[in-house]
Amino acid sequence: MTNKIRIAVQKSGRLSEASLALIKECGIDFGGTGTGRLKAEASNFPAEILFLRDDDIPGYVADGVADIGIVGENVAIEKSPNTNIVYRLGFSKCRLSLAIPKGEIYTNLTDFEGKDIATSYPKLLQNYLKENNVSAKIHEISGSVEIAPSIGLAYGICDIVSSGSTLLSNGLKEVEVVFRSEAVMISADNLPAEKQKILEKLLFRIRAVQSAQKNKYILLNAPNSQIDEIVQILPGIKSPTILPLAVDGWSSLHSVINEDDFWDIIENLKNAGAEGILVIPIEKMIG
Ligand code: PRP
Ligand code: ZN
Repeated sequence: MTNKIRIAVQKSGRLSEASLALIKECGIDFGGTGTGRLKAEASNFPAEILFLRDDDIPGYVADGVADIGIVGENVAIEKSPNTNIVYRLGFSKCRLSLAIPKGEIYTNLTDFEGKDIATSYPKLLQNYLKENNVSAKIHEISGSVEIAPSIGLAYGICDIVSSGSTLLSNGLKEVEVVFRSEAVMISADNLPAEKQKILEKLLFRIRAVQSAQKNKYILLNAPNSQIDEIVQILPGIKSPTILPLAVDGWSSLHSVINEDDFWDIIENLKNAGAEGILVIPIEKMIG
């Protein structure tokens, strides 16, 4: 059998779109996602993609049905005995929070003492309550946790909050953050060497895609007298490229800047005399 890596991704939900977009950005072509498709083979990379319920992904990875998976860290920790987080992907950020009906008065965590809490994440919730010396009755339910208070099943809930709209539409308010989560890549403990190699290839591509997304290529013109000052402002990977312009006494500077510092840098560059500033997206960034 030729060696392939099996990647489990969420079939539908908060992580699906971003997970598949990332795989595509890595140049892995698996021919689009028809609805209801549960398996797809990549045509140009030794990989097969399995579309699964997110809660099942850690179990499948632990059992070796899939080699690696993309899941929320909350799911990875809650459900995975024998898997490791090999890479933090940084997207689909959310929090696991305690929430109660919005009409209830809330003082602090001890309000939950002896109360019933409904959740799909009993393990994470139990750890948190224990750390904070609160004991409550945890009811594990696998879905529609948000309706538990209104049907009298629990005083509060502990569930994933992203935009907060699910809580809002169920008349609940977030009162404590139990755990902060993001998408992570998990793998089994004992991945065979050849699959490990393919995983490293994939991670190499993911890093290249993600650092490209975080950076921009910048070009600008400046009078030669201002170059020293401008070079101080441009961080660059090493140092900026400086090329003479056809016009005497002027140069063109090229560099890479981080999106987070973008607007500050642009303003400082203008103040230092830069002109004709061009900012261009980067397709891939290696090393
Ligand atoms: C979570 C949670 C809510 C929703 C919250 O589901 O159970 O339904 O996201 O998002 P919001 O704050 O933006 O409204 P999740 O994505 O974990 O899917 P699953 O529970 O169906 O697996
Ligand atoms: Zn789920």
